[in-house]
Amino acid sequence: MMVSKKMAAALNEQVKNEFFAYWTYLQMSYSFNSMGLSVFSKWYNEQAMEEQGHAMKIADYLLDQGAEVELLSLDKPKADYKSAEEVVQAALDHEIMVTQQINALASLAREEHDYATENFLQYYVQEQVEEVATATELLDLVKMSDSTGQLLMLENRIMALRTEG
Ligand code: FEO
Repeated sequence: MMVSKKMAAALNEQVKNEFFAYWTYLQMSYSFNSMGLSVFSKWYNEQAMEEQGHAMKIADYLLDQGAEVELLSLDKPKADYKSAEEVVQAALDHEIMVTQQINALASLAREEHDYATENFLQYYVQEQVEEVATATELLDLVKMSDSTGQLLMLENRIMALRTEG
Protein backbone atom coordinates (compact mmCIF):
# COMPACT_ATOMS: atom_id res chain seq x y z
CA MET A 1 0.00 0.00 0.00
CA MET A 2 1.40 3.37 -1.07
CA VAL A 3 -0.49 5.51 1.46
CA SER A 4 -0.36 5.26 5.26
CA LYS A 5 -3.06 3.35 7.15
CA LYS A 6 -4.19 6.62 8.67
CA MET A 7 -4.47 8.30 5.27
CA ALA A 8 -6.29 5.29 3.77
CA ALA A 9 -8.81 5.38 6.62
CA ALA A 10 -9.31 9.15 6.25
CA LEU A 11 -9.84 8.87 2.49
CA ASN A 12 -12.22 5.94 3.01
CA GLU A 13 -14.18 8.15 5.40
CA GLN A 14 -14.30 10.86 2.72
CA VAL A 15 -15.79 8.34 0.28
CA LYS A 16 -18.61 8.03 2.80
CA ASN A 17 -18.84 11.82 3.19
CA GLU A 18 -19.16 12.32 -0.56
CA PHE A 19 -21.80 9.60 -0.79
CA PHE A 20 -23.61 11.33 2.07
CA ALA A 21 -23.50 14.54 0.01
CA TYR A 22 -24.99 12.51 -2.86
CA TRP A 23 -27.72 11.27 -0.53
CA THR A 24 -28.34 14.78 0.86
CA TYR A 25 -28.64 16.41 -2.58
CA LEU A 26 -30.84 13.64 -3.91
CA GLN A 27 -33.23 14.26 -1.02
CA MET A 28 -33.11 18.00 -1.77
CA SER A 29 -33.99 17.20 -5.38
CA TYR A 30 -37.02 15.16 -4.28
CA SER A 31 -38.07 17.87 -1.81
CA PHE A 32 -37.96 20.52 -4.55
CA ASN A 33 -39.96 18.25 -6.79
CA SER A 34 -42.64 18.07 -4.10
CA MET A 35 -42.62 21.88 -3.85
CA GLY A 36 -43.34 22.08 -7.59
CA LEU A 37 -39.96 23.63 -8.40
CA SER A 38 -38.76 21.29 -11.12
CA VAL A 39 -35.67 23.21 -12.22
CA PHE A 40 -34.37 23.41 -8.66
CA SER A 41 -35.10 19.69 -8.47
CA LYS A 42 -33.02 19.09 -11.61
CA TRP A 43 -30.25 21.30 -10.25
CA TYR A 44 -29.90 19.22 -7.09
CA ASN A 45 -30.22 15.98 -8.99
CA GLU A 46 -27.22 17.05 -11.08
CA GLN A 47 -25.42 18.10 -7.92
CA ALA A 48 -26.10 14.67 -6.45
CA MET A 49 -24.58 12.98 -9.50
CA GLU A 50 -21.47 15.16 -9.17
CA GLU A 51 -21.11 14.03 -5.56
CA GLN A 52 -21.38 10.40 -6.60
CA GLY A 53 -18.52 11.11 -9.00
CA HIS A 54 -16.48 12.70 -6.19
CA ALA A 55 -16.96 9.61 -4.02
CA MET A 56 -16.01 7.19 -6.76
CA LYS A 57 -12.94 9.17 -7.77
CA ILE A 58 -11.59 8.88 -4.21
CA ALA A 59 -12.44 5.16 -4.12
CA ASP A 60 -10.54 4.67 -7.40
CA TYR A 61 -7.56 6.56 -5.97
CA LEU A 62 -7.50 4.29 -2.91
CA LEU A 63 -7.51 1.22 -5.16
CA ASP A 64 -4.76 2.70 -7.35
CA GLN A 65 -2.69 3.13 -4.19
CA GLY A 66 -3.18 -0.50 -3.20
CA ALA A 67 -5.57 0.30 -0.37
CA GLU A 68 -8.97 -1.25 0.19
CA VAL A 69 -12.32 0.53 -0.02
CA GLU A 70 -14.94 -0.24 2.57
CA LEU A 71 -18.35 1.36 2.12
CA LEU A 72 -19.74 2.68 5.40
CA SER A 73 -23.29 3.35 6.61
CA LEU A 74 -24.92 6.62 5.64
CA ASP A 75 -27.08 8.66 7.99
CA LYS A 76 -30.58 9.61 6.97
CA PRO A 77 -30.38 13.00 5.22
CA LYS A 78 -32.60 15.87 6.36
CA ALA A 79 -35.90 15.78 4.48
CA ASP A 80 -38.34 18.09 6.28
CA TYR A 81 -37.58 21.30 4.39
CA LYS A 82 -40.10 24.09 4.79
CA SER A 83 -38.97 26.46 2.02
CA ALA A 84 -36.69 26.79 -0.98
CA GLU A 85 -34.44 29.12 0.99
CA GLU A 86 -34.03 26.54 3.74
CA VAL A 87 -32.87 23.94 1.23
CA VAL A 88 -30.42 26.25 -0.51
CA GLN A 89 -29.03 27.46 2.84
CA ALA A 90 -28.55 23.81 3.90
CA ALA A 91 -26.72 23.13 0.63
CA LEU A 92 -24.32 26.02 1.28
CA ASP A 93 -23.77 24.84 4.88
CA HIS A 94 -23.09 21.36 3.54
CA GLU A 95 -20.46 22.61 1.09
CA ILE A 96 -18.75 24.61 3.85
CA MET A 97 -18.59 21.42 5.92
CA VAL A 98 -17.15 19.43 2.99
CA THR A 99 -14.54 22.16 2.47
CA GLN A 100 -13.42 21.64 6.08
CA GLN A 101 -13.24 17.88 5.49
CA ILE A 102 -11.11 18.36 2.37
CA ASN A 103 -8.83 20.85 4.11
CA ALA A 104 -8.28 18.36 6.96
CA LEU A 105 -7.32 15.69 4.43
CA ALA A 106 -4.95 18.06 2.65
CA SER A 107 -3.33 18.95 5.99
CA LEU A 108 -2.85 15.28 6.82
CA ALA A 109 -1.27 14.64 3.41
CA ARG A 110 1.14 17.51 3.94
CA GLU A 111 1.94 16.36 7.49
CA GLU A 112 2.76 12.89 6.19
CA HIS A 113 4.78 14.19 3.20
CA ASP A 114 2.34 12.21 1.07
CA TYR A 115 2.86 14.21 -2.12
CA ALA A 116 0.73 11.97 -4.33
CA THR A 117 -2.30 12.37 -2.10
CA GLU A 118 -1.67 16.08 -1.64
CA ASN A 119 -1.60 16.44 -5.42
CA PHE A 120 -4.70 14.26 -5.84
CA LEU A 121 -6.59 16.42 -3.32
CA GLN A 122 -5.88 19.64 -5.21
CA TYR A 123 -8.80 18.83 -7.51
CA TYR A 124 -11.08 18.77 -4.45
CA VAL A 125 -9.61 21.94 -2.95
CA GLN A 126 -10.38 23.77 -6.21
CA GLU A 127 -13.77 22.11 -6.59
CA GLN A 128 -14.80 23.33 -3.12
CA VAL A 129 -13.96 26.94 -4.00
CA GLU A 130 -16.35 26.67 -6.95
CA GLU A 131 -19.04 24.79 -5.07
CA VAL A 132 -19.14 27.26 -2.16
CA ALA A 133 -19.17 30.20 -4.60
CA THR A 134 -22.03 28.74 -6.65
CA ALA A 135 -24.06 27.77 -3.58
CA THR A 136 -23.60 31.30 -2.17
CA GLU A 137 -24.72 32.85 -5.44
CA LEU A 138 -27.78 30.63 -5.59
CA LEU A 139 -28.69 31.48 -1.98
CA ASP A 140 -28.36 35.21 -2.72
CA LEU A 141 -30.74 34.83 -5.67
CA VAL A 142 -33.27 32.81 -3.67
CA LYS A 143 -33.19 35.37 -0.85
CA MET A 144 -34.16 38.07 -3.35
CA SER A 145 -37.28 36.08 -4.29
CA ASP A 146 -40.03 36.71 -1.79
CA SER A 147 -42.81 34.83 -3.57
CA THR A 148 -43.37 31.53 -5.36
CA GLY A 149 -43.89 33.48 -8.58
CA GLN A 150 -40.45 35.02 -8.28
CA LEU A 151 -38.91 31.63 -7.53
CA LEU A 152 -40.52 30.25 -10.68
CA MET A 153 -39.06 33.16 -12.68
CA LEU A 154 -35.68 32.47 -11.10
CA GLU A 155 -35.95 28.92 -12.36
CA ASN A 156 -35.65 30.28 -15.89
CA ARG A 157 -32.07 31.29 -15.23
CA ILE A 158 -30.50 29.18 -12.51
CA MET A 159 -29.26 26.37 -14.75
CA ALA A 160 -27.09 28.99 -16.46
CA LEU A 161 -25.10 29.21 -13.21
CA ARG A 162 -23.87 25.68 -13.82
CA THR A 163 -22.53 26.45 -17.27
CA GLU A 164 -21.15 29.86 -16.25
CA GLY A 165 -19.43 28.38 -13.19
FE1 FEO B 1 -18.04 16.78 -3.21
FE2 FEO B 1 -19.96 19.26 -3.18
O1 FEO B 1 -18.46 18.40 -2.50
